[in-house]
Amino acid sequence: MSSRFSGELEEEEEEEEEEEEASVNPTEVKMSQIVMPCHSNHRQELDVGQLLKWIDCTACLSAERHAGSPCVTASMDDIHFEHTISVGQVVNIRAKVNRAFNSSMEVGIQVSCEDLFSDRHWRVCHAYATFVTHRTNTGQKVTLKPIVPQTQKEQVEYSVAAERRRVRMVHDDIIKELLSMGSIQQADSSAVCNAVAAEKTKVESVELVLPPHANHQVNTFGGQIMAWMVNVATIAASRLCQAHPTLRTIDMFTFRGPSQVGDRLVLRAIVNNAFKNSIEVGVRAEAHQEEGPNRHINSAFMTFEVLDDLGKPCTLPRIRPEPLEGERRFQEAIARKKIRLDRKYIISRKQSEVPLSVPWDPTNQVYLSYNNVSALKMLAARNNWRLSSEKDKVRLYTLEQKSMLSFRVEFEVEVPAHRAFCLLAELSNRPKWDTHYKQCELIHRVDDDDFLYRVVAPSVHHSSVGSPTSAKQAEGILQDFILLASKRKPCGSGDPYVVALRSVTLPTYPPTEEYNRGEVLCAGMTILETKVNKSLICYYNQASPEVLPYISTDIAGLSSSFYNIFCSCSEYLTRNALQSTSMEQTDQHQMTKTHSPTSLSEALHSAHL
Ligand code: COA
Ligand code: ADP
Repeated sequence: MSSRFSGELEEEEEEEEEEEEASVNPTEVKMSQIVMPCHSNHRQELDVGQLLKWIDCTACLSAERHAGSPCVTASMDDIHFEHTISVGQVVNIRAKVNRAFNSSMEVGIQVSCEDLFSDRHWRVCHAYATFVTHRTNTGQKVTLKPIVPQTQKEQVEYSVAAERRRVRMVHDDIIKELLSMGSIQQADSSAVCNAVAAEKTKVESVELVLPPHANHQVNTFGGQIMAWMVNVATIAASRLCQAHPTLRTIDMFTFRGPSQVGDRLVLRAIVNNAFKNSIEVGVRAEAHQEEGPNRHINSAFMTFEVLDDLGKPCTLPRIRPEPLEGERRFQEAIARKKIRLDRKYIISRKQSEVPLSVPWDPTNQVYLSYNNVSALKMLAARNNWRLSSEKDKVRLYTLEQKSMLSFRVEFEVEVPAHRAFCLLAELSNRPKWDTHYKQCELIHRVDDDDFLYRVVAPSVHHSSVGSPTSAKQAEGILQDFILLASKRKPCGSGDPYVVALRSVTLPTYPPTEEYNRGEVLCAGMTILETKVNKSLICYYNQASPEVLPYISTDIAGLSSSFYNIFCSCSEYLTRNALQSTSMEQTDQHQMTKTHSPTSLSEALHSAHL
């Protein structure tokens, strides 16, 4: 096994797996394969193309088990390969449907490796693929039955799948917008000395689609196409580095149209750019019948590294792109590198890996929103919340996770959920009921669902809840927060409205001497319709040092200031329930407009189910 093969499944993951073992998911499909020499490359490691075929096949069988009819791969999200797998080891693949939308569904795939001699298991990668059911003979879309999550983990995946769908829908637009904004510094590709001419790395290869490459509907397997694409990409990368490269990442990609048995698939690859330790190779796949036009099936971008004997990435030669198209791709590869890093680190499910305040910019907005909403949904879905205090049905719960303390305040109001959502989502209203909000200013309206605010709050050290301070004292020690507020309507019955908050940094709003800059890791509200005209409101906060003193006396049972604030919130909602807010008016206005999405924000808006 390679020396990079170091990370065993973490304790938390093992616990999750035990919980999963206990519950049988009807869509789950498992595949185990022993890696034989015929599956391996020249380093006796499993060929990634072969792994992609197994992944696609397992995921397709899971999708078809749910749909009860044939399905095709529509897209595959980014895959980061954490480890390589050697001949003689076992690959275990588990796929299950996380959520069914209309005719499409998200399948989550976990790949781990097992060393038979030491009985150790490692995670190799996880992937999310979207599969679409075949239309009926008359061309009608088939609506899939919904998924009913059974475990806490399934509930989280179900909920967050809607956010991942938003990211997928705007994927192509993000790169276009990043390039059109000219925010990527133009690198002078001709100035690179001793660079290798990109032309030297060019590959063109043809494949004839035969029955073994196709599924039971004679459509070419997505995994087979991916494997052929990996093959040509690997040749292109090898020509640059004159070594055997290791595939690290495949960017999110889409199967634009189907291919069938009898198609000739022409695969073209070239190195688009070479960075210090990584190479981006682009591949384009086109299909045609013996006679007939070329159909663009897929384009993918893959990142390779070359590892030395110790598993450390080697320094790579630079590339001199071909004129015009090559130069354009050279620049676009730089933009994709930024997006790849944003996606990897911001979308990361592990909160501890995400810096507290990430700089906000329009191109990472979608990932920050994803992180914002998914963090709140994951916090809400934890099942180890403990009731700490209760007063007149306002309940305070706490959750302890490693070094983090989170709290939830829960209360019911006699206000319809959509009204409560409109009132609470408008953060600039919050000073009307929350004494912790001295001021709240809308800095930027990103789109219909995401907003940036600057909030001014009293400092906790001198002015804690329930201990009033003089105006002068409070004035001197105010703190401010730059918050991204992501507002989401329910994605299905039983789903709550969500208002998620997290800190971001904005170059136009740097910290000032006048205010202490506070940071919010994960906070917000969920609003769930419990009965007609009744809603359950849950306020969440993953307590950072700035927030903890506000609530610690309540948690300790020494005071019930939380009760006063949330009574005030309840009164505010009841008082204003009948007035329509500006957000409701916008909704009304939009319902009268029918259009297809043309911009990033419109596409995002249309991702609401
Ligand atoms: N990623 C995720 N989902 C996608 C998608 C993408 N890139 N493109 C379309 N979809 C989803 C839509 O959101 C929609 O979902 P919903 O019904 O749950 O709301 C569903 O696919 C159908 O979309 P629609 O716009 O009606 O269909 P389309 O004309 O765009 O066709 C495919 C979508 C996937 C069926 C079509 O592009 C196709 O046949 N691709 C080739 C699939 C294939 O053969 N794969 C195997 C390898 S060749
Ligand atoms: P784009 O050119 O915008 O990147 P394409 O879908 O045309 O998008 O191509 C995807 C990638 O496939 C390109 O970035 C390039 O790396 C590779 N590619 C495209 N055409 C060729 C070709 N004729 N020869 C070699 N590689 C190609």
